[in-house]
Amino acid sequence: MKSLEDQLVVITGAGGGIGVTMVRRFREAGARIVACDVSAEALGDLDAAHKEVFDLGNPDACKEACARIQTSAGLPDVIISNAGHTRAETLEQVDDRAWNFELDVNLNGARNFTAPFLDPMKARGSGVFVFISSVNALAHFGNPAYAAAKAGLVAYARAIATECGRYGIRSNTICPGSVRTHAWDHRIEKDPGILDKVSRLYPLGHMVTPDDVANAAVFLASPLSAGITGVTLPVDGGLMAGNLPFIDAIR
Ligand SMILES: NC(=O)c1ccc[n+]([C@@H]2O[C@H](COP(=O)([O-])OP(=O)(O)OC[C@H]3O[C@@H](n4cnc5c(N)ncnc54)[C@H](O)[C@@H]3O)[C@@H](O)[C@H]2O)c1
Repeated sequence: MKSLEDQLVVITGAGGGIGVTMVRRFREAGARIVACDVSAEALGDLDAAHKEVFDLGNPDACKEACARIQTSAGLPDVIISNAGHTRAETLEQVDDRAWNFELDVNLNGARNFTAPFLDPMKARGSGVFVFISSVNALAHFGNPAYAAAKAGLVAYARAIATECGRYGIRSNTICPGSVRTHAWDHRIEKDPGILDKVSRLYPLGHMVTPDDVANAAVFLASPLSAGITGVTLPVDGGLMAGNLPFIDAIR
């Protein structure tokens, strides 16, 4: 499917488990990529036309990166806001520092890096945003600060969809379920059996893959979804469809 031929697609968190897969899938769809990450090392050998290293937790750095991208690569057609981070697993672990840090990276950073593109996209009359949120935005699965930030992303994506739709801009959110990436390394270190336990919670019987998320992002970025804006799409193996452990308990 070459549905994004020559489109300029910006991907944040491009060096992470889902990001690397997105870069590959968007390249296969014909896109030119601007790969962004806080880690230059993570961007390594990625097949990207342009690379940007900056910290989403730094508002000035976000704005400067937006300006550099427009000068050196052009005004993006598509922004995939994918970077994310969490460590504070439960309320007990959420102190002021953790709350502010996780809100800054996951919500404020996504806003700081996308808002500067809105006016030029409105003037051009086109633009697509895909925000990678989480099932944590839809129900509580731990990580309270991250969950609040991810729910905020859903609201922000809807604001763009509603207020900017008349300028040809679409904005949607993907809510992945659990995906085996480096984001799980610290949990696996604590409990080597955790992936099996978590997989049993999913109606499909397994966790989501990075390709599952990347394929949904390509669809929402492409003209195949031209009539879709403001939606929140779980890519979650059925997790949000119901409560499988409850069903198993009463069977
Ligand atoms: N892995 C999962 O189970 C899962 C589930 C639901 C949602 N998600 C979301 O999917 C997205 C991708 O996650 P992943 O699993 O690939 O994680 P990952 O840890 O493999 O990759 C995240 C990437 O974001 C980058 N990043 C982190 N903090 C940053 C910052 N301050 N500034 C710029 N870049 C930063 C990291 O360097 C990394 O390359 C995230 O938004 C995450 O919240 C992941």
